[in-house]
Amino acid sequence: MKEQIIILDFGSQYTQVIARRIRECQVYSTILRYDTPAAEIAKMKPKGIILSGGPSSVFDEDAPKPDPALFKLKVPLLGICYGLQMLAESLKGRVEPGLKREYGKGTLEIKDKTCPLFRGLPKRIQVWNSHSDKLTKLPRGFTTVAVTENSDFAAVADIKKHRYGLQFHPEVVHTPRGSVIIKNFVYDICKCGRNWTMLNYLDQAVEEIRKQVGDEKVILGLSGGVDSSVAAALIHRAIGDQLTCIFVNNGLLRAREADAVREVFQNNFKLKLRYENATTMFLKRLKGITSPERKRKVIGKAFIESFTQATKKVGNAKFLAQGTLYPDIIESVPIAGNPAALIKSHHNVGGLPKNLKFELLEPLKCLFKDEVRLLGLELGLPKSMVYRHPFPGPGLGVRILGDVTRQRIRILKEADTIVLEEMKSSGWYYKVWQAFAVLLPVKSVGVMGDERTYEYTIAVRVVESKDGMTADWVKLPYEVLEKISNRIINEVKGANRVCYDISSKPPATIEWE
Ligand code: XMP
Repeated sequence: MKEQIIILDFGSQYTQVIARRIRECQVYSTILRYDTPAAEIAKMKPKGIILSGGPSSVFDEDAPKPDPALFKLKVPLLGICYGLQMLAESLKGRVEPGLKREYGKGTLEIKDKTCPLFRGLPKRIQVWNSHSDKLTKLPRGFTTVAVTENSDFAAVADIKKHRYGLQFHPEVVHTPRGSVIIKNFVYDICKCGRNWTMLNYLDQAVEEIRKQVGDEKVILGLSGGVDSSVAAALIHRAIGDQLTCIFVNNGLLRAREADAVREVFQNNFKLKLRYENATTMFLKRLKGITSPERKRKVIGKAFIESFTQATKKVGNAKFLAQGTLYPDIIESVPIAGNPAALIKSHHNVGGLPKNLKFELLEPLKCLFKDEVRLLGLELGLPKSMVYRHPFPGPGLGVRILGDVTRQRIRILKEADTIVLEEMKSSGWYYKVWQAFAVLLPVKSVGVMGDERTYEYTIAVRVVESKDGMTADWVKLPYEVLEKISNRIINEVKGANRVCYDISSKPPATIEWE
């Protein structure tokens, strides 16, 4: 069984961040619901347990509580924010409702230099707070190890029993030295080794895939996106020709996208690839449809049909492989005020119907996106594929506002290619979350030489983001914008105006639709 730290999720929006911070220390981490029975946790033999923060107050009637037997386990514990308050409540400390919410930056003063959690840190560090209830009496066996302006119990510890509590959030970037605290916890207190690397995972995943699949056949829908590409390369490494990938060209891909996928997988990896060119069918179905929701539905349905037909041609495959990632399967804790529980992805166009008669093979389902990228590099996928920007399932279909016609697709593809080329040659491509062009169905007057033109408008969108949930527009240098604009207007027949989108998300979205 692999060495791991378990994080009990009390509904914090930062739970996944804690898990990632631990994995960045090359230690495996698993998120479980706050009420997972202690016996179940014990069976997993964790090296340490973290109680996450959460939006609740311990005084709420339905405050989420862990199994009391958790505190009988002889495993190092770290409670963060609500996790600390819960730990204190359970171990006979006292928590009182705070008069005002302490939110934002604070200065932590470390009082006990011997506390292993703060080893290697200066006497004062900047920390990030977000709480209103406060600890007012230490739990039994605990001492104060650090204080802030507003709290005498900002960090508490029962060093003998390896139990720690922090009022602030060490996992967020606003606690700049927080990673030292997390490293101290996992390496020194929990005694974890640095065993979680993508190279180790690769060998282990190959073994597991071989065991699960046996002599059976596997099919996988390859989109050219990071997740399905890495899943394809990984499964191919494990079972070679028992895998067939299906690539559906819906006619709404970026220029040269289909060629790039064929080049990498067919030519380099020598992987069995069924290429289905369904462009005509997709465009026929989209004719006259302008509502973004309808477009998504039509494209989704057409994809399922093409994919299902293609699977029949492959014949008797037992497994369907998918590039499902860890954040897709973490069950979010349904606690009021937990934004992670509310923000559910509405993007499911690539999704397949439940009634396909396959067993699922999901070899990436315990990985975060950044880990998937590292795995992709280990597998020899090109950087351009591994660090590719996200691209929506319905593709250019949602980036052409209004009617999707062949002419509009051609215009957008050409403009989009220029945006990408200029982003790459100026060195900006890998610094941003997404960069793309949008075709607006607005025609306006222009002059080209002696001639009057009446053509479409291209919007250029370049955003930075951590996860796509929120985003800000990128302040690109004027020279880059100028080059993009000049080239689009000069080289793309059918567009005579370029605008740069300076809206952030929220209230705008990243895509236009
Ligand atoms: P919005 O436009 O909602 O987009 O701000 C957030 C992120 O999701 C991507 N996106 C999609 N991804 N299938 C996907 O796989 C889709 O249908 C889809 N629609 C939007 C978008 O590009 C951005 O990164």
